[in-house]
Amino acid sequence: MQESTRQQYLQAMGIQLWESRWLPEIDEAGSVAVKTGDIEPESLMGEEPVVDIKHDYSGLGWSELQSKVESCENCHLHESRIYPVFGAGDQNAKVMLIGEAPGAEEDRQGEPFIGQAGQLLNQMLLAIGFKREHVYITNILKCRPPNNRDPETKEINSCESYLHRQITLVAPELVVALGRVAAQSLLKSSTKLGDLRGQLHQVQGLSIPVLVTYHPAYLLKNPLEKRKAWEDLKFVLANVSKGKNE
Ligand code: URA
Repeated sequence: MQESTRQQYLQAMGIQLWESRWLPEIDEAGSVAVKTGDIEPESLMGEEPVVDIKHDYSGLGWSELQSKVESCENCHLHESRIYPVFGAGDQNAKVMLIGEAPGAEEDRQGEPFIGQAGQLLNQMLLAIGFKREHVYITNILKCRPPNNRDPETKEINSCESYLHRQITLVAPELVVALGRVAAQSLLKSSTKLGDLRGQLHQVQGLSIPVLVTYHPAYLLKNPLEKRKAWEDLKFVLANVSKGKNE
């Protein structure tokens, strides 16, 4: 990626150009040269699950799993949804992004992260040399909670087996949890988002590293936090094998 193009993406994220000394080196082919010396995962940790997984989709392939989600009535959210939002992107992606739940636009179109937060997410990805279609994106909940309220525990539990099967099928090098709800649900943790950032965790039982960062909707409301999100994005680069992503 050209330096000037990357700077445009960073500008679009709202990150000032004087921060460019932090930029990773990305060559013309899209490969990323990561200096890992000062970015060390401190631990691989997780906490005990506090709820059971209620459904077993472990034998299902992509199309069967998607059909199950499309006809899902495991919780009452199916009553108010327009479309369930299964997920989108590269099913063999190195990076899998997990948000909270579909919003109004996602509910209308059945695609994750296509509203304003999705636009910022696209810019964040481009800033580290990833096009949206080269990652896999999904949510903790597949159906929109009315009025975008926080997901309830029983809804999270109902959707958990779908998500775990998706993670297993993608088998990414890294899962990125976007925001508090995604992070706490994936990690079965009540720790504050700020304290979960900056180290690698693990989804219980799946042996896949998880990095926690801010939700793009939060960054839209709190643009000063974008600098911290940029630190997290560098962490993504440091923990994903180099290769052509564009
Ligand atoms: N917010 C999310 O967490 N997910 C979406 O798909 C859209 C907005």
